[in-house]
Amino acid sequence: MEQTESIPVRDLFARTMQVLDRLSKDASPQERIALRRAMTTLRTSLPQAEMAQADTPSLDVVSQLRLAAGIVEPQRSDQAALKEWGADLVERRRAAGLSRAVLAERAGISESTLRNVETGRRAPTRTTIMHLQSVPELRIDPSPIGEHLSRRRRRAQDFAPNCWLTPEYDALKLHGELTMVLNGRGGELEQTYIYLDPSSAADWYAIASHELYTRARLLMPMSRVARCISEHVGTLGLDVIGLGCGDGKDEVRLTQSLLEHHRNHNLRLYLLDISRPLCCFAYRHAAESLADHSTVSVCAIRGNFRNLQRYTPLLHTQERAHHRRIVCMFGNTFANLHNEILFVRNSLQGFAPGDLLLLNVPAAMASASDRTAIMKNDRRFAGQTPLADMTAQDRWCADLLRRHTPGSKPAPEMSV
Ligand SMILES: C[S@@+](CC[C@H](N)C(=O)[O-])C[C@H]1O[C@@H](n2cnc3c(N)ncnc32)[C@H](O)[C@@H]1O
Repeated sequence: MEQTESIPVRDLFARTMQVLDRLSKDASPQERIALRRAMTTLRTSLPQAEMAQADTPSLDVVSQLRLAAGIVEPQRSDQAALKEWGADLVERRRAAGLSRAVLAERAGISESTLRNVETGRRAPTRTTIMHLQSVPELRIDPSPIGEHLSRRRRRAQDFAPNCWLTPEYDALKLHGELTMVLNGRGGELEQTYIYLDPSSAADWYAIASHELYTRARLLMPMSRVARCISEHVGTLGLDVIGLGCGDGKDEVRLTQSLLEHHRNHNLRLYLLDISRPLCCFAYRHAAESLADHSTVSVCAIRGNFRNLQRYTPLLHTQERAHHRRIVCMFGNTFANLHNEILFVRNSLQGFAPGDLLLLNVPAAMASASDRTAIMKNDRRFAGQTPLADMTAQDRWCADLLRRHTPGSKPAPEMSV
């Protein structure tokens, strides 16, 4: 919002006429006639201009102080939305059997802040909403007042605890399965297991932070992608759901591009990953990078993307039809799945027409059934890269084997 300084219109006109008068002294007879005519017009329109200025209310002191504090008050038309949202919050609080004092304490906000929000007197800040969201029984949905939120500058440390654990996520069981496969008679190790080991997760982070990986990431035309999404979605709000987000950098870049291109800034970013260290990193990165955008909420989820169809808050429902969902899988994660078709059929069944799936996948070197083409096009099989030369990714997998099977000397071996 911009505050304009108010100069009395009479002074403004008088100063303009002085200038015109000065100019007319050196002007040609023809120019002088034109300048005199302009001065007459100014003089006759002064009463009308003064009346118009009197009708424009000046900012009151309270508004000025609020503007100075960086708090933009909601327009009068927003008040109805705030009141409605506040009344809904009261209902949710009562349904949860909580008094105002108890809820304020549990959410970590003052009772007066809660009262102001409940009565619709004040727009809640994004931080207040995050605090309320940390009380799960309320099942707070900030979207109906997304654009009316108080636009106070937010800092990363303002984010309240905001991470979900999915009920079936059993880290101990997964770890048990990993060690059983590695120390037993062998078997198949699905890609997910590599990231369960914190050292492997840290090594993956190092690979993803490498300049080569960063350069490859930047090839993704995020701005163009965001423009296409915005055209498709129109004015609806968006849920960006990053599956296997890793460090979350691509999802954050997409969200930032959407903020540039999409008219509705009401965005929710969900970062889902099986790895604790990567999920934590992604959340911190998103919170810091998006701290200045009060209409974006960030939520980290520890879970398994193969069970996405069970994570109801992320899926399409009638009540959430005012948002579209963009499910993202970056960093070749889709190509590493055991069975891509089954994944789409089973895990993505909770979405609806209009929701979007955004993937980046490597171009195939050959059809999976064309042995000759594979042997010819794959650098390793074609003998262009010696088998003994391990890539960073090879070393990353081999290190996991070394850590879990002491004494082993994993060497790459490939066959088609
Ligand atoms: C190849 S990395 C890609 C990471 C990131 N998207 C990027 O572009 O750098 C795969 C990511 O998927 C996660 N992941 C693997 N299997 C998963 C599963 N079943 N559920 C959730 N996350 C999984 C891993 O922890 C890892 O962060």
